[in-house]
Amino acid sequence: MDQANIIAAAEQFVKDELGGDSSGHDYWHIYRVWQTAKKIGVEEGADLLVVELAALLHDIADEKLVASEAEGLAKVRSWLVEQGVAEATVEHVMEIISTMSFKGGGKTGMRTLEGAVVQDADRLDAIGAVGIARVFAYSGAKGQLSHDPHLPPRTDMTAEEYRKGKSTAINHFYEKLLKLKDLMNTAYGKQMAEGRHAVMEAFLEQFYAEWEGKK
Ligand code: ADP
Ligand code: NI
Repeated sequence: MDQANIIAAAEQFVKDELGGDSSGHDYWHIYRVWQTAKKIGVEEGADLLVVELAALLHDIADEKLVASEAEGLAKVRSWLVEQGVAEATVEHVMEIISTMSFKGGGKTGMRTLEGAVVQDADRLDAIGAVGIARVFAYSGAKGQLSHDPHLPPRTDMTAEEYRKGKSTAINHFYEKLLKLKDLMNTAYGKQMAEGRHAVMEAFLEQFYAEWEGKK
């Protein structure tokens, strides 16, 4: 299969697998990460086949969607092999998707440029206008309040506390979203993050002003 056909097949595979997920990993999250990764990949001179495949497949093995991460990764690997993707490309894509998740720890430092590009694109989807929309959608789905002035943001959490603990949409900005700008790997990703970060800061300022009836 040529490059364009493999990517089209990956797009269909992801649509079939993720379908109606409501944990913030619906197909449109993948679509946005894919578009953003392509943009950064072009600017940074990355291998676009690896970037696009890793962007499209990065959430298939998410622990919220499959029984175990290992099982999800095995499924992605066999799919890539079935498509006749070159072995080195399969290994590179697998390395990226198995190492890029945030999981509360803010792990950084992808080994390759392509990994750096895809991780940046995934992080960018959590910030800016789309990031704001996702936080409130996620919080609503989990039954959390948008904001509770008596519940302070949590710091130094374990991965388990990060997933399970009680918090609010507004606290999630301090626990994760406002930190992402400084975790960008690539120069172009960082530039995009700065614009999106400013959108969140303006939003929070307006939010607190409205909370106290000041604006
Ligand atoms: P990823 O898989 O991209 O690392 P997560 O699964 O942690 O991200 O989150 C998916 C989306 O849901 C993100 O946009 C994130 O900001 C939002 N989200 C995750 N945890 C929370 C939370 N505790 N409260 C509000 N929003 C959250
Ligand atoms: Ni993602």
